[in-house]
Amino acid sequence: MADSDLPAPQDREPVRFLVFSASLRGGSLNGRLARLAATMIEAHGGIVDFGSMQDFDTPSYNRDVQDEDGFPSGADKLRECVQTNDAFVVSSPEYNASMPGVLKNSIDWVSRFSPQPFNEKHGLLLSASPSMSGGNRGLWALRVPFEHLGARVYPDMFSLAQAHQAFDAEGRIANAQLQERFEHNIVGFMDLVEASKHYPCVKTRWVEYLGERPDPVTDRVE
Ligand SMILES: Cc1cc2nc3c(=O)[nH]c(=O)nc-3n(C[C@H](O)[C@H](O)[C@H](O)COP(=O)(O)O)c2cc1C
Repeated sequence: MADSDLPAPQDREPVRFLVFSASLRGGSLNGRLARLAATMIEAHGGIVDFGSMQDFDTPSYNRDVQDEDGFPSGADKLRECVQTNDAFVVSSPEYNASMPGVLKNSIDWVSRFSPQPFNEKHGLLLSASPSMSGGNRGLWALRVPFEHLGARVYPDMFSLAQAHQAFDAEGRIANAQLQERFEHNIVGFMDLVEASKHYPCVKTRWVEYLGERPDPVTDRVE
């Protein structure tokens, strides 16, 4: 992507992004992708609140526990992070062609707060996996609860295939074309969230174009 195509970071209105990986594991590939997303967001003028799945982890949802003890601290922390940011970016492992149970369980807890925090929040879904599919099937599953809860899930999702050998020493994606595609995905999402928050009068147009800039090279022709 040519630098001249991008808004200068200082030209952006302030927008805050919760960024986290849904893996609990040290050395997580999704942790590395989430870090790269955070770096890209900051490079393009966004404000990052980097979250940790360790902090959002919760015991299995049980209505009796909710009634007797209230919400667990992990659910309260995720609720607070979603509410205090304008948008969220999650990089999630794919487990058995779906999302990890730990993430779904935390979403279930958070969905019981009123007001329900995911409603009308913009979300971007990422995944990383050693497999050739990059964990993309898990993201289609993850869209379902988020969209059910009213989140505005960005149409373009990014899945990093063969992620165990995809990063360079600086933590960027070694394949330059793929790194550019990733950055384009991040900036398109940032543009949409910024427009939605700060320029509601042009919101209809941005939603119509799904945050993408028209580009003859990549425009779909069908
Ligand atoms: C229970 C389990 C199920 C998995 N299922 C899939 C799968 O369906 N597709 C896939 O690409 N990788 C699958 N994997 C491999 C993960 O993608 C791999 O462990 C990855 O590194 C996990 O993400 P992390 O590095 O961020 O922890 C699975 C791993 C586990 C532990």
